[in-house]
Amino acid sequence: MPLLLKNCRILVNDKVYSKNILVKKDKISKITNKEPKADGIIDVNNNFVLPGLIDVHVHMREPGLTHKEDFLTGSMAAAKGGITTILDMPNTIPPTTTVAALEEKRKLASKSVVNYGFNFGATLNNLSDIKKAKNIASVKLYMDATTGAMKVEDFDSITDIFRASKLTIIHAEDMNVKAAIDILIKNKIKNKLHVAHVSSAKELQYAKQNSIKKQVSVEVTPNHLFMNEKYIQTLGAFAEMKPRLKTEHDQKALWDGIKNGEVDIIATDHAPHLREEKEQANYPFGVPGLETMLPLLLDAFNQNNITLQKIMQLCCENPAKIFKIKNKGFLKEGYDADLVIADLDKRQAVRNEDLLTKCRWSPFDGKILKGWPVMTIVNGNVVYDNGQINDVKAKEVQYGR
Ligand code: NCD
Ligand code: ZN
Ligand code: ZN
Repeated sequence: MPLLLKNCRILVNDKVYSKNILVKKDKISKITNKEPKADGIIDVNNNFVLPGLIDVHVHMREPGLTHKEDFLTGSMAAAKGGITTILDMPNTIPPTTTVAALEEKRKLASKSVVNYGFNFGATLNNLSDIKKAKNIASVKLYMDATTGAMKVEDFDSITDIFRASKLTIIHAEDMNVKAAIDILIKNKIKNKLHVAHVSSAKELQYAKQNSIKKQVSVEVTPNHLFMNEKYIQTLGAFAEMKPRLKTEHDQKALWDGIKNGEVDIIATDHAPHLREEKEQANYPFGVPGLETMLPLLLDAFNQNNITLQKIMQLCCENPAKIFKIKNKGFLKEGYDADLVIADLDKRQAVRNEDLLTKCRWSPFDGKILKGWPVMTIVNGNVVYDNGQINDVKAKEVQYGR
């Protein structure tokens, strides 16, 4: 049954148009000035319609850590945040480092209400599993210690992993970003490298060394864009994550990187931990982010710190291109009907009690933001509508490589 979204404002090549969008089944069928017949009509009231966001860095915590999050609660949080596709991280229990663990996770993820994919974990000795793993988004390699014991230190193993994987995501901090790039250059490896959560001027500089700029993509998180080390003084463990929040100078360098095109992707690094866990002396690192990324960015838009075009590029188009996700990331006829309707004038505070993530806290609690997603459509189904979730199951994404 076709669905017509009437009075949509959309952005094409930096120009704003008023259009109607016809959705047939799970696809965008027409973007038109006409009013084609449909069974359902939604008046978008001249709000902006963007492609649903693709978040390439999400810890859904299932299996093994479902007291923190699971594919249902995490995906509901994503839908509320205007995110229609998530790529899950492998540091679960068991970790996603074997074909069997991947297949098990695949079954568990079927309860997700947003589309999903899997980043497969690298270990010292799982090259054969990496090669056998089907339909994975990337291989994730941890070069530094963080949540989950998945650190790989041995440079020969790291080299082998870079050689075996067309796209490797690294968790690397400080000098390890340079070390990773040096391995690529020294061994003339042509595969792609994606540097997760770049947090400082120095890491950005290492990642964007001119000689292999095109081979390396840079991700930043809203945490490092909208907070700095001063937040640790007031929030304590609730602002502690890997990599740690840095100085205001570093924070500014990341914003400059967005403006000058050095940053390719903004992703949440949604890393929920329970309040009780954060209150312990040896608290775990990481903060949730699915429900606040888009509002923070729309608020930044309202303050003239980022354009809508840039938000679309870094949160929709580039994730689809870099991870080669089929049929997503663009508002185009024939593409999947993954859409978010954003009210750019809506002013509302982030409030812990409103959150759908199982951990139910945010470092941004109390912050008033202007610009909020009000409706999220996944595969042609309305999954989030003004505070309400409709539990419609979504699909695993496919990759074009
Ligand atoms: C993440 C987690 O909790 O899984 N924590 C974090 O501080 N970012 C792991 C990670 O992304 O390094
Ligand atoms: Zn990490
Ligand atoms: Zn992470």
